[in-house]
Amino acid sequence: MGRRACPRIGLDPQAAIRLVGQDARCNREGILRLDVSDQIAGQEPAIAALFASTFTASEAAEEGAVIGALVARLLSDVPRDALRAFTASDKGKLVGGVIFTPLTYPDPRRVMLLSPMAVAPDRQGEGIGQRLIAHALDRLRAEGTDVAVTYGDPAFYGKTGFAPVSEAVLPAPMPLSHPQGWIAQSLTDAPLSPVNGPAACVRPFRSPELW
Ligand SMILES: CC(C)(COP(=O)(O)OP(=O)(O)OC[C@H]1O[C@@H](n2cnc3c(N)ncnc32)[C@H](O)[C@@H]1OP(=O)(O)O)[C@@H](O)C(=O)NCCC(=O)NCCS
Repeated sequence: MGRRACPRIGLDPQAAIRLVGQDARCNREGILRLDVSDQIAGQEPAIAALFASTFTASEAAEEGAVIGALVARLLSDVPRDALRAFTASDKGKLVGGVIFTPLTYPDPRRVMLLSPMAVAPDRQGEGIGQRLIAHALDRLRAEGTDVAVTYGDPAFYGKTGFAPVSEAVLPAPMPLSHPQGWIAQSLTDAPLSPVNGPAACVRPFRSPELW
């Protein structure tokens, strides 16, 4: 992971983003302004390419192709009122992205699945990923989302409030090959209480090998 020598100074990432929709943080060059946006129209190919190149670098070319194709399908197939995508840009250059789609249950609570997420390989370790998630969760909370869930490494996602959740509390839409990676958080004042299944995900995720 490309680490910068920037000390993690006591900057509240959520507060910084909430102020202006931009984010200031020191790095080697000085102050970095990070634009966080949910206006993705026209950027779809660039976003898919970012995911493809990031996962090619972190995993392998095959994984990069799978995730790039998944993102392209999510951005083209899922209705725009259901999908929420947030990007981070630095001086006009796309450096990160995160996508949320609904998980639906026979339960009135609104649950959003965070997947996938990528920060450009040469910009990882600067805090961009955590701040992008924090900004996105603030927006989802304001829009009435009750629960956010993802399927990934608790060591990273735990930094933004996700904690392991059992499938008895929050059913997964497909069999999980790594149930320990099923992690969630309540976005309301109420703690996460059991959600009745079954769960349904959007079509591009209905592929067992993704889970
Ligand atoms: C995972 C990812 C999104 C994190 O974004 P980032 O901007 O690099 O993360 P941040 O700088 O906000 O946070 C870095 C912290 O998270 C930890 N971290 C980052 N990636 C991690 C990972 N894959 N697993 C475990 N911990 C991780 C770092 O150790 C670091 O901890 P520290 O702050 O205590 O030093 C980014 O590294 C990435 O795109 N990786 C490749 C693709 C991927 O794995 N995506 C997630 C699965 S969908």
